[in-house]
Amino acid sequence: MTMKLQDTRLLAARLSEVKTYGHFINGEWTEGHSGETIELSNPATRQTLAYIQSGDAVDVDRAVNAAHHAFPRWSKSSPAQRQTILRVIADRLRARQLDYAMMETLNNGKTITEAFTHDITGAIGLFEYYAGAAFQLHGQVADFADSTMLIHREPIGVVAQIIPWNFPLLMAAWKLGPALTTGCTVVLKVAEETPLSALRLAELCQEAGLPNGVLNLLTGFGEPCGAPLAAHAMVDKVAFTGSTEVGKLIVKAASNDLKKVTLELGGKSPNIILDDADMDLAIPGAANAIFFNHGQCCCAGSRLFVQEKKYDQVVEGVTQFAKNIRLGPGLDSRTQMGPLVSQTQLERVSGYLRSGEEQGAKALCGGKRHGENGYFVEPTVLVDTSPDMKVYREEIFGPVVTAIPFKSVDDDLLTRANDTTYGLAAGIYTRDMARAHRIANRLRAGTVWINCYNIFDAALPFGGYKQSGWGREMGHNALDNYLETKSICASI
Ligand code: NAI
Ligand code: MG
Repeated sequence: MTMKLQDTRLLAARLSEVKTYGHFINGEWTEGHSGETIELSNPATRQTLAYIQSGDAVDVDRAVNAAHHAFPRWSKSSPAQRQTILRVIADRLRARQLDYAMMETLNNGKTITEAFTHDITGAIGLFEYYAGAAFQLHGQVADFADSTMLIHREPIGVVAQIIPWNFPLLMAAWKLGPALTTGCTVVLKVAEETPLSALRLAELCQEAGLPNGVLNLLTGFGEPCGAPLAAHAMVDKVAFTGSTEVGKLIVKAASNDLKKVTLELGGKSPNIILDDADMDLAIPGAANAIFFNHGQCCCAGSRLFVQEKKYDQVVEGVTQFAKNIRLGPGLDSRTQMGPLVSQTQLERVSGYLRSGEEQGAKALCGGKRHGENGYFVEPTVLVDTSPDMKVYREEIFGPVVTAIPFKSVDDDLLTRANDTTYGLAAGIYTRDMARAHRIANRLRAGTVWINCYNIFDAALPFGGYKQSGWGREMGHNALDNYLETKSICASI
């Protein structure tokens, strides 16, 4: 990243102006029906950042109607038009990458380096990938006896998309890329904690030529705004990323009229280090697997399985790594880990740390809050845990890893690695590739990383087994989530 300190100060000053944002409906900024607003604050300092509308069912109805009216034209737009718009969105994001990274840091807390190199770069890549996909939505033709059979792919319709706060712009891109390229129209409900980058994106999409009503963006809380959106009769499909608990509510809300649903939910992913692994790779790899984005990742490697012979070395290495992480405000270029996103998440993670202590887990480092102002939590390595503990079984969504020794690579290890209600991701570190693939084949997880962790690509499908979700996002697979198949059979 090339960035001068001067630039960041200027941008920070510009972004520090406290504004009130509307919903973005049918190409216009719109005040919410209730007139109520939500205050946003910087999680590092708790200073007020902005105000957003607290959306309700009336706002939902307006936004869904706008998407409904925009659908006939957008669904018939040419692939070239869709591709051009998505490309321009990517280009404009790249031109303002630092602005977007700063916004993400101020609103979410993550470091500016992470926001710039991971979140915004990833969002740009997504739009570029799905720009290309606009030309790949081929149907098929089948000839059989005296009939011609046409197999069409058509956009599914009006799509409701509900996203969380851990990767605000990136999650918006994961959702919008496949929806827009297939010709669907969208109502996106962003997380109440982190709407700023997506609000700017909505405007940017309009500047890039996206017709009014194709993308509508609502801000607000889950129950008053997300729930009526997931249940709205004119919505054809719901795509949700967030907690497994709310994922189940989404399924219920969508079941009335059998909307199509995709879900990307929680995880408690195993990261397995074999004794023949390259330790220079495995130790920072294991640390990155959990501490990336402060552990606020659905695929965080939160259960670290280490083969006995190397257990002490790995645990010591990861502990040292954790102790060296510099906590601070994300805008400070020396900071390596920012605050958690909110007071609620601070309390949630602190609750898990307390429960670990009460149930007998030992923290080799961290284990508590850092400072008193922002929502910082010290990176924590837990040992002496057992499967009956909450910290061992439940998603913590903070910088907390549980280290677990194992004897040999056998059925018992695989049973333990798979012993979770989730199945989002897993990691394996070993020099023996054949063994790595044998293990990978038996792990019940949507993504398995070998000698790496947290590598994402627009071309690589992502999603979960078991209660980690339904369907896959990214890659060519994600297009299917937004397409219907129509068979036309003509007798000739
Ligand atoms: P959440 O699942 O409540 O929120 C995610 C999104 O869903 C937000 O936009 C929210 O407004 C919306 N929402 C909430 N209730 C809703 C409802 N009844 N109907 C429709 N939409 C609704 O997640 P929250 O409360 O922010 O975090 C709680 C826990 O969830 C975290 O500690 C973490 O374990 C997990 N989580 C998982 C994520 C993932 O990437 N899979 C992301 C965020 C949270
Ligand atoms: Mg919630």
